[in-house]
Amino acid sequence: MERLKHETRAEHLALEARVPLMQPGLTVPQYAQVLRAFASVVLPLEQRLAALPLPDALKYPARRHTPALQADLAALGLDFLPHPLPETLATSLPAAYGTLYVLEGSTLGGQLISRHLKKHLNLDGTSGAAYFSGYGPDTGRQWRAFTQFMRDAEREAAQPGWADAMVQDMVQEARAAFAVFAAALLAVAPAPRGAA
Ligand code: HEM
Repeated sequence: MERLKHETRAEHLALEARVPLMQPGLTVPQYAQVLRAFASVVLPLEQRLAALPLPDALKYPARRHTPALQADLAALGLDFLPHPLPETLATSLPAAYGTLYVLEGSTLGGQLISRHLKKHLNLDGTSGAAYFSGYGPDTGRQWRAFTQFMRDAEREAAQPGWADAMVQDMVQEARAAFAVFAAALLAVAPAPRGAA
């Protein structure tokens, strides 16, 4: 877990800078763009994840964010187009745990974002901000359960050489997942000229 965090820190910072949701002057149309971009990634990604033999310990169905996104799109009268995913993303275990890491981790930043959405746009979990509300007050507990699952998976795979390769695959997968979010955001709102 520490390696995942450490080795994807740059991707997280880059994505955080690209998600314009913490601005004081945030508008509903700006938020709608971001929401559509997230839906265009999360829905196809979670479809792939659902096709994998995810261990019961992950309690996966309860971790799907698709229903929250669909509720938000419906509340705001939005649609979306699926974003093309890299061919191998979320198609094998345990690499796909890297994707799950990104999806689950986004519920942490989501706690700040959802407070901001409430304050500036008066949106909450029932009126268009369900996705970024994550698990609400249960978010910390859900994140701890997820990190426990990840640590157990690493321990179980701790045969010489193998755990290291597994973590490396997860890091690659997490980086690829961060990159898809960045690309989808770029597709709905191109970076200003001169920006990286
Ligand atoms: C404005 C946007 C965002 C803000 C302000 C933000 C902020 C944060 C914060 C405060 C944490 C907790 C850090 C900690 O406790 O150490 C966090 C963790 C995390 N966030 Fe974000 N985040 C944002 C967007 C995103 C997005 C869009 C994703 C992925 C799609 C994401 C993925 C993650 C991950 C994977 C972690 C877990 C890091 C770890 O502890 O291993 N974040 N974020």
